[in-house]
Amino acid sequence: MKIMITGAAGFIGSAFARLAVSNGIVPVCVDKLSYAGDMERLKSAAEKMHFHRADVADKEAMEHIIKSEGPQAIVHFAAETHVDRSILEPASFITANVFGTENLLELALKHGIRKFIHISTDEVYGDLRAGESKFKETDCLLPNSPYSASKASADMFVRAFRKTFGFPVITIRPSNNYGPWQYPEKLIPLTIAKAMRDESIPLYGKGENIRTWLYVEDCAEAVMRVLDAGRDGETYNIGSAEEKMNRDVIGAILRHLGKGGELVKSVPDRPGHDFRYAVDTAKIERETGWRARTSFDEGMEKTVRWYRGHSEWLFRKAEEARAFTEGIRRRFEEMGAKGEKQGTS
Ligand SMILES: NC(=O)c1ccc[n+]([C@@H]2O[C@H](COP(=O)([O-])OP(=O)(O)OC[C@H]3O[C@@H](n4cnc5c(N)ncnc54)[C@H](O)[C@@H]3O)[C@@H](O)[C@H]2O)c1
Repeated sequence: MKIMITGAAGFIGSAFARLAVSNGIVPVCVDKLSYAGDMERLKSAAEKMHFHRADVADKEAMEHIIKSEGPQAIVHFAAETHVDRSILEPASFITANVFGTENLLELALKHGIRKFIHISTDEVYGDLRAGESKFKETDCLLPNSPYSASKASADMFVRAFRKTFGFPVITIRPSNNYGPWQYPEKLIPLTIAKAMRDESIPLYGKGENIRTWLYVEDCAEAVMRVLDAGRDGETYNIGSAEEKMNRDVIGAILRHLGKGGELVKSVPDRPGHDFRYAVDTAKIERETGWRARTSFDEGMEKTVRWYRGHSEWLFRKAEEARAFTEGIRRRFEEMGAKGEKQGTS
């Protein structure tokens, strides 16, 4: 099956594109190459794919690509993805994540695409307290950030296209990914970059917020499994059993790098910071046989090793992101973390 991958130059999209190429697929890759997109992630597979630089919200450009390449399936990763940025610039999240997805759905319907895999996020469910049951696919959507609200809106359009037009869609909701090639505005690569240079490491609040960590190659495999064996109209959570507090994630990185905890500095919390995300993955495991294979310790060891071996890329990207990552803390301080606090006690 000829597949189009949107957001293919991003962190997870590129892992999926590399996996597709290693499985003998010649994917049609599309990416706007925003600050988060980077062709270096695709270098090892570039000769075995077709790449188009385009905005998924651009009807004319996307229609031209779909008509000329004739994909039968679309795996849609393209999105604005950073929660902090969504707090400062929510409108751009609506353009990329809502208009972009709706545009792609319309074109896919018009051109007879046979499978549309929409990559959503566990953040659409809202957050959990300690001890509450993990989110199931049937739980209602209660997004708390402009990012998760835009992703939840996209999910609603995906659902509506299934109900209204009988269009073949599947939605996937992954938990937090980590691994090679992640842009260092996100917790793990940012911490590695700072720690490697003995710079102070920002920790939101007390660092008690909990995320479930999924190694990016496991995520790419899950998406491939759903593409092959997922049922039309269904939603699948993907995640691991690795729930960790942010401060413990930072602690693990420091241990792997042989650095001390004195680098960690508490900074004003993100407004409305979700306390805990955790998803029940029984459905994808039962229906496709997929299961996260990489433990947090193994994944973190591989991840730290990879960034050490790619320090030029890491530091270059960290410099690029610096104005934003430092500016955001000042903005959150000014905002006084006015959002509703999410039970970090
Ligand atoms: N990273 C995670 O932990 C995580 C967890 C759950 C879900 N997701 C979802 O997975 C998908 C990929 O996330 P990621 O971490 O790889 O993100 P990323 O920010 O690394 O990559 C996003 C890519 O999309 C591209 N893009 C952005 N807007 C675009 C547009 N309008 N048209 C075309 N391309 C555009 C960017 O250039 C970039 O290459 C997203 O949909 C995200 O919501 C990510």
